[in-house]
Amino acid sequence: MVSRLLTSLAAALLAAPVMAAEVNVYSYRQPELIKPLTDAFTKDTGIDVNVAFLSKGMIERLRAEGDRTPADVVLTTDVSRLAALVNAGLTQPITSDVLQQNVPAQYHDPAGHWWGLTSRARVVYASKTRVAADEITTYEDLADPKWQGRICTRSGTHPYNLALTAAMIEHHGVDAARVWAEGVKANLARRPQGNDRAQVKAIWAGECDISLGNTYYMGQMLADPEQQAWADAVRLDFPVFEMGGTHVNLSGVAMTKYAPNAESAKRFIEFLSTPAAQKIYAEVNFEYPIAPNTEADPLVKSWGSFTADGLDLMSIAKSRPAALQLMEMVDFDG
Ligand SMILES: [Fe+2]
Repeated sequence: MVSRLLTSLAAALLAAPVMAAEVNVYSYRQPELIKPLTDAFTKDTGIDVNVAFLSKGMIERLRAEGDRTPADVVLTTDVSRLAALVNAGLTQPITSDVLQQNVPAQYHDPAGHWWGLTSRARVVYASKTRVAADEITTYEDLADPKWQGRICTRSGTHPYNLALTAAMIEHHGVDAARVWAEGVKANLARRPQGNDRAQVKAIWAGECDISLGNTYYMGQMLADPEQQAWADAVRLDFPVFEMGGTHVNLSGVAMTKYAPNAESAKRFIEFLSTPAAQKIYAEVNFEYPIAPNTEADPLVKSWGSFTADGLDLMSIAKSRPAALQLMEMVDFDG
């Protein structure tokens, strides 16, 4: 009897899966950026990290999954994407001294729903030979007729350009921003097309003299033998808004509303905010860490320094719909 009891107990124990600690992530960020971080976290804590890489549709997917979602954490770039997740009611706030300590106040949601991890600046890539240093100092200047036929850019409705346009709206109002967008459009060397790096290739090929691009693409091009020549043809210039600073955006993280592994998720998010983790992030993708007492990679620093624009990132996110409307109104890509 006893032995039969023991046997069935052993069988029950064997049948019950050992609940290994894990955290599930939906990521818009690419595998090669995330792997060094998840590996370091698992090594530290023994908690496994499963990542599903998405290229779009995160909100729709989380909505469809509802309270049965496996996702604990979402990783993305662009504050407006984070704000959209929050506004859709798909996130939960995190109360954490670690996060409060590591993430400066202007880089997280006051209510704790989203947290910035790294920043990137949207700047001008300028031909080393055809554009003098200091020839372009402000974003407003991109609308000056002196640039006629000399500017290349990706679509005006891409999130990166919408964030910049939204910031322009916040600085100068919708009407002035529309005049600006019309001016930039009039200066384009070709219809908006391709990604940020394709514009640098066009500068290298002599099709245009300046383009808009995020800072880290310089590092990505330098690391790619096929694109190195494009990078060598340009210099990074850090424009400012008149009466403001250089436009930055964030990569960031949030916990889902129905996170099944909330405890592990919190530990993972706290880990991502630590200077050590931000350093990995910054080195792998040439971004700027935001934790106190962290510095950018020497290569990134060699491109120049800047003062980030002081606009509240949530107000930029709020003006995003107006920016989209404006870009469509001026038919920026047409
Ligand atoms: Fe990007």
